[in-house]
Amino acid sequence: MSEPRQILVTSALPYANGSIHLGHMLEYIQTDMWVRFQKMRGNQCIYVCADDAHGSAIMLRAEKEGITPEQLIANVQAEHSGDFADFLVDFDNFHSTHSEENRELSALIYSRLKEAGHIATRSVTQYFDPEKGMFLADRFIKGTCPKCAAQDQYGDNCEKCGATYAPTELKDPKSAISGATPELRDSQHFFFKLPDFQAMLEQWTRSGTLQEAVANKLAEWLDAGLQEWDISRDAPYFGFEIPGEPGKYFYVWLDAPIGYMASFKNLCARRPELDFDAFWNAGSTAELYHFIGKDIVNFHALFWPAMLEGAGLRKPTAVNVHGYLTVNGAKMSKSRGTFIKARTYLDHLAPEYLRYYYAAKLGRGVDDLDLNLEDFVQKVNSDLVGKVVNIASRCAGFIHKGNAGVLVSGDAAPELTEAFRNAAPQITEAYENRDFAKAMREIMALADRANAWIADKAPWSLAKQEGKQDEVQAICAQGINLFRQLVIFLKPVLPLLAADAEAFLNVAPLRWEDAATRLENHTLNAFKPLMSRIEPAKVEAMIAASKEDLAAAQSPVPAGNGELSKEPLAAQIEFDTFAAVDLRVALIVKAEAVEGADKLLRLTLDIGDEQRNVFSGIKSAYPDPAQLEGRLTMMVANLKPRKMRFGVSEGMVMAAGPGGEEIYLLSPDSGAKPGQRIK
Ligand code: 2FM
Ligand code: ZN
Repeated sequence: MSEPRQILVTSALPYANGSIHLGHMLEYIQTDMWVRFQKMRGNQCIYVCADDAHGSAIMLRAEKEGITPEQLIANVQAEHSGDFADFLVDFDNFHSTHSEENRELSALIYSRLKEAGHIATRSVTQYFDPEKGMFLADRFIKGTCPKCAAQDQYGDNCEKCGATYAPTELKDPKSAISGATPELRDSQHFFFKLPDFQAMLEQWTRSGTLQEAVANKLAEWLDAGLQEWDISRDAPYFGFEIPGEPGKYFYVWLDAPIGYMASFKNLCARRPELDFDAFWNAGSTAELYHFIGKDIVNFHALFWPAMLEGAGLRKPTAVNVHGYLTVNGAKMSKSRGTFIKARTYLDHLAPEYLRYYYAAKLGRGVDDLDLNLEDFVQKVNSDLVGKVVNIASRCAGFIHKGNAGVLVSGDAAPELTEAFRNAAPQITEAYENRDFAKAMREIMALADRANAWIADKAPWSLAKQEGKQDEVQAICAQGINLFRQLVIFLKPVLPLLAADAEAFLNVAPLRWEDAATRLENHTLNAFKPLMSRIEPAKVEAMIAASKEDLAAAQSPVPAGNGELSKEPLAAQIEFDTFAAVDLRVALIVKAEAVEGADKLLRLTLDIGDEQRNVFSGIKSAYPDPAQLEGRLTMMVANLKPRKMRFGVSEGMVMAAGPGGEEIYLLSPDSGAKPGQRIK
């Protein structure tokens, strides 16, 4: 055996202001499978991650919710950790970039870059929101496109005509935060001198660290010449203040990758066998891999290795890039119900179904991966239930009935044993190269052979014949041994199935090298079904629930912090626009929970001469819906009806508040009559 490798692995740090969805899971599942494979091989493989907690988006969202950024990121971290754990993503540590370790490491790296002359300062002119008292990132400026005159376009590009421009070119610019007209102001910024690393990056990006397609993309940027990178932001900003520069903060993307180191450092404090410096100092023999999506390649394959080099630290061994997830052949869509949150999936389906499907489709490349939901059901049912689990369920009963659960010794099919052994190196190589699809193909080809052999031997027929018991036992013992080998090969993908199989097989946790051995004269435990088929109705329910998530998000409850003055006002509208909205007094005749919907109430509203059925995402504030019955409220009566899973919603009731328990349904003064129009 060669010496165990020391390997540190990361997945991109998810932003701490949103939920994890199945697109994110593509990366975490992929990384987790690779890490589990390395651990099964006996390598010291450490998998760290963290929430990416800084930046103005997080600051503004916390403000909107009326909580501190610290509270927001703590809530989100709890949610994210739960989602990952339930998808069986087994981080050695899941930390936060808003941590002491990260503050110290960011300061250290910055000071080393500064000492080495890699930091420049100069004045930058930018839009400033005079009401909010802050500089505005491009996405917080809206205005009229200078090219096609489309209104309400972002500060850097037009969604209508595709033009890109500087925010200063936008006509009639407005702050998307306060609605105020922004002013141009100057401020001192700090820059990382990326061009200092041009030669190093040209060499590093071509040294086997990147997939070829990625290296080619980077070559385009390198050929165009690198620019200095603005790494500072002015207060107010949620992040780390730059040491010695009051009011100046590190840009979130400066301290985000340092968060990988910080998470590992935090782990080292609990795991004395891990030596932080041995992993990170220049010349380290440990391996370092980052798994990321193709949208953040420049940060990981240009800025990050340059920062590490400039600070005298080691560079990544490789950056492994994957494509995007599509669902049913298209971008994930909220209205189609294919923007599926991790939790919504888990509410309906088992994590290993998706882990297997991703594995079956994930190659080494940067192509997008399509989650075709029909294919998903078909493939998982056919491969895992129909092929793999089937072998054990076909054989176990005969061994328990005919031989008290004891596997007899002897190899009933040496050619199959040989074929399984011979396949091991290819499967190992495919995993090592992250070609999970190839590994799954090889494994399923073995499963097909095992099933064909058992079908040919038909122990179920022999069992009915006199004097064939030995043969039945020999066949079934062989079947179980083949099943065991398949479980070993699938364990990185299906850790729960493997644990259940280990319990049935009555063996210690299986390691990769166990694939070379057999179980003989060995007593099995009782067999319990290891995996059930995916019912297509569950997939449909998940899609419906994803649409419901959207309906709840679009419910009349505005996000806010309860303090009127902090809720930014929307852009002004003409009187005619307002007059087009038909607002009516409505009597709540009936209010009831909707079976299968966590957030919705079904309201029957009387508006004078007709009754309306309205679904409203206010259940969290009115857990006892009956209390609403008999109460007057206000509704938008001319909203186009919306077809939902539970029926058609014919309007919208009006409420205020930040959400959760704090939702306040609006009421007219007493004396108002159902159907009266609000003017
Ligand atoms: O793109 C993103 O979602 C970022 N939060 C990824 C950060 S990865 C690392 F550099 F921290
Ligand atoms: Zn335009």
